[in-house]
Amino acid sequence: MQVEVTAGSLAEVEADWLVVFVPQDSDLPPALAAFDKQLGGLLQRLRETEDLTGKPDQTMVLHGIQGLAATRLVLVGIGKSEECDLARLGRAASTAARIASSRKSSSIAVALPEAVAGSLDASATATAILTSLVTGSAGQSLYRSEPDRHPFEAAIVVLPEGDASSLRAAAAEGQLLGEAVNLTRELVNLTADDIYPESFASRAEQVASGIDGLTCTILDEQQLEAERFGSLLAVARGSDRPPRVVVLEYRGAGENDPQLALVGKGVTFDSGGLSLKPSEGMNTMKCDMAGAATVLGAISAIARLKLPVNVTGYMGLVENMVSGRSYKLGDVLKARSGTTIEVLNTDAEGRLVLADVLDYAVEQGASRIVDLATLTGACVVALGEDVVGLFASCDDWSAEVQAAASRAGEQVWAMPMFDHFAELLKSDVADCKNIGTRWGGAITAAKFLEKFTGERPWVHLDIAGPSFASSNKPHREGGGTGCMVRTLIELARQFK
Ligand code: BES
Ligand code: MN
Ligand code: ZN
Repeated sequence: MQVEVTAGSLAEVEADWLVVFVPQDSDLPPALAAFDKQLGGLLQRLRETEDLTGKPDQTMVLHGIQGLAATRLVLVGIGKSEECDLARLGRAASTAARIASSRKSSSIAVALPEAVAGSLDASATATAILTSLVTGSAGQSLYRSEPDRHPFEAAIVVLPEGDASSLRAAAAEGQLLGEAVNLTRELVNLTADDIYPESFASRAEQVASGIDGLTCTILDEQQLEAERFGSLLAVARGSDRPPRVVVLEYRGAGENDPQLALVGKGVTFDSGGLSLKPSEGMNTMKCDMAGAATVLGAISAIARLKLPVNVTGYMGLVENMVSGRSYKLGDVLKARSGTTIEVLNTDAEGRLVLADVLDYAVEQGASRIVDLATLTGACVVALGEDVVGLFASCDDWSAEVQAAASRAGEQVWAMPMFDHFAELLKSDVADCKNIGTRWGGAITAAKFLEKFTGERPWVHLDIAGPSFASSNKPHREGGGTGCMVRTLIELARQFK
């Protein structure tokens, strides 16, 4: 997609679509009022008849307007200007992009909203708009004979006046962020028949080979054996697909500078193993590698942006299946750290995979760690489908991750990590067991992971709900969402 930024009259922009954000304010801001004059007072009339109030997410599409060079006009409400933040604006831009991309067309122009740009940074606004155009125009049509969404060939950001050139880099950056989010979404949306540990690893290698300064190392099952990944290998054993661990390294800072480690759960399909899931719970389990896909999306953008940080991504890739070789209930596994684990539910497999990958990341020199995992249904029960659960061993690091999420406009919520939750993991026969009791399941899972983090500052993000959307909404497609990709990039931006 070609990205342009120009300054000038909205009415004269030639494009298949022109998107204009409409605030829910008593008066139209100056450039919008001028635009309205060129349209013969159309916007004002729509406001008077209350067909267009500017409420958040309200939309209207108009065709063949006198005095407008663009073929179609999309009006999108953004609510009261003083309440409009980047997240709301991005959402409005996404809604517009989803409307426009449902048709085959080539170009979309978006008016930089002046009322908002007064309080929000114009560069950040241009970035958010471009990200939304890229994500909003990509759908879930990977397997449809006729795709139902069509990417734009060109996007134009239009400012009423001033220096357009200063926003070009910001717009290009928005496009790059959108591409990273879409990479994660695509991997999540691909079926388990197409994305399995080996094919995920090849894709990671292919992504890394196209980006300067990003190197990819793949550990195969022999190497994992030699490296004592006993817990991960036990989960993988029931599948015909051999496991992989992918390590992506990006060095944007000095050798002695700290290393940010991003660790992702990559269960390419979670049948539950012998503790088999019912169909209803298994239907969407191709999404169980979303943590790993998020790490790949984020690190690809961090490297493309050449951020001055050292980041290493670790992805634990296995398929949790049922066969004569499956790991069994009552088995005692020896994790890489030496800790022994009694298996009392083979569906609590994500933590077994992460136990070894976290331990490996610590050994490889992680200074601070964030892991991402579609770890528990309990977290979705606690926080709903749209909020990420955050679990931390260190308040400062937790605050940094929360601040990054807030800058990225993504919703996370910190959960308690009281010591007594760890007691629920005590086993009669081994150092610990892999499940707690029925209650507080998201927290006991996090407490389990904590044992393998070597006392490094660590944050665990349970993305079981937000990483995969069960249905379409006006502002986003169902399926993989790419949540937390932008948060991780923001985190890397400020990492010292
Ligand atoms: N991958 C699932 C968690 C999940 C649930 C992800 C819903 C996305 C949507 C995980 O491996 C799992 O099965 N967890 C169990 C843990 C239990 C056995 C302690 C769960 O949540 O039921
Ligand atoms: Mn499971
Ligand atoms: Zn799982």
